[in-house]
Amino acid sequence: MNIKEIYIVGAGQMGSGIAQVAIQSGYKVILNDVDVKFVEKAKANIEKRVSRLVEKGKITEEEKEKALNNLSTSVDLTDAKNADLVIEAIVENEDIKGQVFKKLDAICKEDAILASNTSSISITQIAANTKRADKVVGMHFFNPVPVMKLLEITKGLDTSEETLKVAQEVGEKLGKVTVISKDSPGFIVNRLLDPMLNEAIYLLDEGVATVEDIDKGMVNGCNHPMGPLALTDLIGLDVLLAVMEVLYKEYGDPKYRPCPLLRRMVKAGKLGKKTGEGFYKYN
Ligand code: 3HC
Repeated sequence: MNIKEIYIVGAGQMGSGIAQVAIQSGYKVILNDVDVKFVEKAKANIEKRVSRLVEKGKITEEEKEKALNNLSTSVDLTDAKNADLVIEAIVENEDIKGQVFKKLDAICKEDAILASNTSSISITQIAANTKRADKVVGMHFFNPVPVMKLLEITKGLDTSEETLKVAQEVGEKLGKVTVISKDSPGFIVNRLLDPMLNEAIYLLDEGVATVEDIDKGMVNGCNHPMGPLALTDLIGLDVLLAVMEVLYKEYGDPKYRPCPLLRRMVKAGKLGKKTGEGFYKYN
């Protein structure tokens, strides 16, 4: 199947990052969110980031114009009717994702592929909200999307080989390295990464070390590009908590129990970079 038009649901940091790499790779993209102010903000951010690439000499002014011409916005899901591929990148909540997939299934072309950027929720379960489980697939991108090379593709119980192949081809056209995972909680990367981030928060909660020293430890001792607490701030504390809840519920193993400090900080609205405060303060 030849993918030309991609409809992206959710204009947050993941959705807008996916939109940016897709328009730069020559896809027509419609970026959706529930309110005009969200899509306008995402569009302005994309324009800013693409302009910066011109300033850095990474792309030409002409390439920038071409990319930006590929982008349009929408606040009405029915605009997904002509899309060949839909990528959902909304809040990590089973019920809300389920409702969106049910609507998309009714709106989209029969042969359209419906993908989710979920980092932990079962693709099989998401697909159960549709009558096209063979065309539902996980396409999990990493933050910041324009920088991180990986696209983790997840095969639900009924995802067809053809759908997987298309997801891989799109990933390659987006310049990503692709890996394939079975539909298992946390897939590959978050199963490994998120318990480490959660454990760093336990270290802090237990008073073992300061925020700075925990981060310095992993940056200088393991060559991580940023420390686990700074990375949690980048990802969003609410996002990490949602993934840990899924891992804990699905595996029932205490090693996945979300750290109480993580819960308290999410309750206090300290979600990281996006709210101006997490383990660090941002202006
Ligand atoms: N969007 C686009 N580009 C960005 C960016 C963003 N949000 N943040 C940084 N960049 C670009 C910069 O423009 C710069 O580009 P250049 O080399 O062309 O000048 C390059 O990235 C490096 O940026 P900086 O020099 O500002 O900063 P660093 O060298 O410290 O890199 C980082 C920043 C790329 C974020 C690096 O620290 C890093 O790789 N951190 C780890 C990120 C990570 O692990 N992500 C995965 C999270 S898990 C996930 O997303 C899964 C989900 O399910 C939770």
